[in-house]
Amino acid sequence: MKMTRRFNLRRVAVTAIAFSILMGLSIDATASGNLPMIGKYAEQINKQAGGFAGFSAERGRSLFSSNHATGKPETPSCTSCHTNNPAKVGQTRAGKSISPLAISKSPERYADPKKVEKWFRRNCKSVLGRECTPVEKGDFLTFMLTQ
Ligand code: HEC
Repeated sequence: MKMTRRFNLRRVAVTAIAFSILMGLSIDATASGNLPMIGKYAEQINKQAGGFAGFSAERGRSLFSSNHATGKPETPSCTSCHTNNPAKVGQTRAGKSISPLAISKSPERYADPKKVEKWFRRNCKSVLGRECTPVEKGDFLTFMLTQ
């Protein structure tokens, strides 16, 4: 009788621990809007400088739609290829279409870290004349989540 009760209590405890771990994981996933890359950039910022203050969709919007004037003259803005609406189909300089960057239209985007990094590197160099910082990349993806 006593043995059984102790056993049951242990089961309850194990279940409670498992449940709180699962809850913790799901809170994490929500915080980065299910885009693991956002969490990765936050980690990089904390490692480099610490004091990560959170990403901003508004700053991401501004990065996306501003004319930067520091990159190639033919691509002053992300909108040069992606149009000024992330939900729309864009176009490369050679005329090939680019599926929308907005996560609501292209849910498969930003899942492959190599692809994300490759295009950030290439496009930021064209438009800004330098690579984007982890803050800029996190802001940009946070903005895309709202689109
Ligand atoms: C010269 C045209 C061009 C410009 C300018 C441009 N892009 Fe792109 N971008 C592309 C192409 C082409 C792809 C790859 C094709 C695709 O993913 O559909 C791409 C893909 C991306 C991806 C990868 C998405 C994924 O699915 O992983 C990101 C992120 C991105 N662009 C961000 C930006 C940002 C930020 C800017 C402005 C700083 C920008 N782009 C400016 C052409 C451009």
